Amino acid sequence: AIERTLSIIKPDATRRNLTGKIVAMFEEAGLRVVASKRIHLTPAQAGAFYAVHKERPFYGELVEQMSAEPVVVQVLEGEGAIAKNREVMGATNPANADEGTIRKSFALSMGENSVHGSDAPETAKEEIAFFFSGIELVG
Ligand code: CMP
Repeated sequence: AIERTLSIIKPDATRRNLTGKIVAMFEEAGLRVVASKRIHLTPAQAGAFYAVHKERPFYGELVEQMSAEPVVVQVLEGEGAIAKNREVMGATNPANADEGTIRKSFALSMGENSVHGSDAPETAKEEIAFFFSGIELVG
């Protein structure tokens, strides 16, 4: 089925001018950018986005890293977009990411792993609504 997923190009990647290269990898995999904006999250906004990880030991560092510099948030659309996006990203820990994936190519560490992508249809819906209103989605 045609799906939509929420993608974030993280500060470690925007800082190193990797936005274009990362978007190209998604596009080459057949994903279409149907919404896109560059924003600088406040710590409160980053904390709210990652609220599900609130009790995890890495939460504080994650919030700090995600609010340190701008991010690019996008909605990607395509056949099986949620799984396809995760395939192109590679494993969360870059040490485990397959050759040719974004995280294998660019990630610096588990925390600074260059991209985020929704993990399931329900979270994709919530995460898209967190950043975009309906009229910003141009299919
Ligand atoms: P992301 O897909 O954005 O979702 C949560 C983020 O927390 C994850 O990518 C990592 O960047 C970061 N993180 C840091 N440490 C860990 C960990 N031990 N397990 C999972 N995620 C971690």
